[in-house]
Amino acid sequence: MKFFLDTADLDAIRELSATGLVDGVTTNPSLVAKSGHKDFISLVRAIAALVPGPVSAEVTASEAEPMLAQGRALASLAPNIAVKVPLTPAGLRVCKTLSAEGVKVNVTLCFSAAQAILAAKAGATFVSPFVGRLDDIGEDGMSLIADIVTIFKAYPAFTTEVLVASVRGPAHVVAAAKLGAHVATLPPSTLRQMFAHPLTTSGLAQFTADWEKAGIREG
Ligand code: E4P
Repeated sequence: MKFFLDTADLDAIRELSATGLVDGVTTNPSLVAKSGHKDFISLVRAIAALVPGPVSAEVTASEAEPMLAQGRALASLAPNIAVKVPLTPAGLRVCKTLSAEGVKVNVTLCFSAAQAILAAKAGATFVSPFVGRLDDIGEDGMSLIADIVTIFKAYPAFTTEVLVASVRGPAHVVAAAKLGAHVATLPPSTLRQMFAHPLTTSGLAQFTADWEKAGIREG
């Protein structure tokens, strides 16, 4: 399972990519706004230089022609950019064109299996179902992941990867992994939480205390 970081915070990306466990980054207009950066293009370039894998940069135009122009401009910023387009008719038209040009495309704001099928048919590299936002309205986000994984497995010609988005914590990551989802994009807090277990902390403290008490020499 690949891990992307769901943030536009350069310090968090620097800190967590040092673990060697981060395969890419996803951003969206809200995350970019939250980062406080005013120059989107230089921010995307900076993120793309920090991680080896795909960095999703989202278009903001809603009509197909300007969206396509934005997508091409974003794709030209670095070889590891994935252009993020919304799951709308215009977004899928742009997805089809950019994919045919060899550009990676992440189709975002997916909330149904029917939408995921459309994204796969449009040649998306990734489709991003938002599990947390479905949970928030009383639906079961993870059952959508199960449906999409099942459908994509039934059609080997679909090469689109399931990118689990709107992740709220480690339990979502574990559930998505059990279903065989290809990628999860994690808020930095979720990746930090995944390291933590009280028995790891107390066990390590005990090992250290016993070692020091015994006065063992290391060579
Ligand atoms: C996906 O790429 C999005 O950035 C995302 O995961 C948004 O999730 P949210 O519901 O936490 O805003």
